[in-house]
Amino acid sequence: MAIPTSRTQEAATVSIESALCTGCGLCVTVCKDFNLRLCEGKACLAPQSLFGCVGCGHCMAVCPAGAISVRGRSLAPQDMFLLPPQNRAADFVSLQALLHRRRSVREFLPDPVPQEQVQAILDAARTAPTGVPPSDVNVLVLDSIEKSRGFTRDFCEHLKTLRWLTAPWFLTLMRPFWGRANHELFSNFVRPALAAFTASMDEGTNIVTYDAPLLMYFYASPLADPADPVVAATLAMLAGEALGLGTCMIGSMHPLIQWGGSAARFRQRHGIRCKSREGLVVLFGHSRVRYTRGIERSFASVTRP
Ligand SMILES: Cc1cc2nc3c(=O)[nH]c(=O)nc-3n(C[C@H](O)[C@H](O)[C@H](O)COP(=O)(O)O)c2cc1C
Ligand code: SF4
Ligand code: SF4
Repeated sequence: MAIPTSRTQEAATVSIESALCTGCGLCVTVCKDFNLRLCEGKACLAPQSLFGCVGCGHCMAVCPAGAISVRGRSLAPQDMFLLPPQNRAADFVSLQALLHRRRSVREFLPDPVPQEQVQAILDAARTAPTGVPPSDVNVLVLDSIEKSRGFTRDFCEHLKTLRWLTAPWFLTLMRPFWGRANHELFSNFVRPALAAFTASMDEGTNIVTYDAPLLMYFYASPLADPADPVVAATLAMLAGEALGLGTCMIGSMHPLIQWGGSAARFRQRHGIRCKSREGLVVLFGHSRVRYTRGIERSFASVTRP
């Protein structure tokens, strides 16, 4: 038994070197797959686990004696590294400063983002937690204005094939099936947005991805938790901020490249490997504008019964 992802169908295998095991039980505590237990004072495999070893690596990472090795599901003992010391980690004050300084930037200088920074963003984003390991997130990286603009221009051509989606007759037809919230979303947001995106692009102005010099599209296989690409995109955005770049999340592209033949052809042309239940584009670049004030934000609600 194993949870499948697009990268693996198999459970990982766990080996325990009994001679090294001190019987501290930490591996048993952290394995939420219930794959480990103590047998006569040493770690051993449980006769049955919840899902088959998912290869999270927690047992191997927590074992103070180095007695556990996990292999499979894209994981091997050599993937472990020593943690940076606590005093090198961002404290809450510096994290909060980063969060407060972030604004969605849509005015980019044409300067390219250096390749080392592109790699640093990917390195940060791949630390993201995932519903089930190994990550099923894919990333499309467009690292020049020409590439991000070409992608967006082609997206706008694809949008022209979707005009029926926001036609009044279609919205009236769908209203009883998809309810008021979708009706209002399509009437008040999707319809004007699609019209503006395509008309502006035809006039030579990109109001979809704003000619950012770096665009990353995070999406995942249908087997992944739908939130996985969104979590990875969020870490990428924060990494971009930490590197001094302006960033902006773009939610309008992903849902419009999921369904139908034109969307499939668009995905194929741009090397997008699959449909994805959720997905997010993140823009990066040097900002042309500097904000001097932050804006207090609030949640719709925070309930503490
Ligand atoms: C999921 C998501 C999707 C977004 N989609 C777009 C978008 O398509 N176009 C855009 O210009 N901004 C987009 N944004 C940015 C928001 O408009 C922005 O966060 C909001 O206006 C608040 O501004 P702030 O990020 O500076 O606080 C998106 C943000 C999120 C989180
Ligand atoms: S964490 Fe390591 S030392 Fe402790 S019980 Fe598990 S295998 Fe043994
Ligand atoms: S890798 Fe994860 S699931 Fe597998 S035995 Fe270790 S803690 Fe449990």
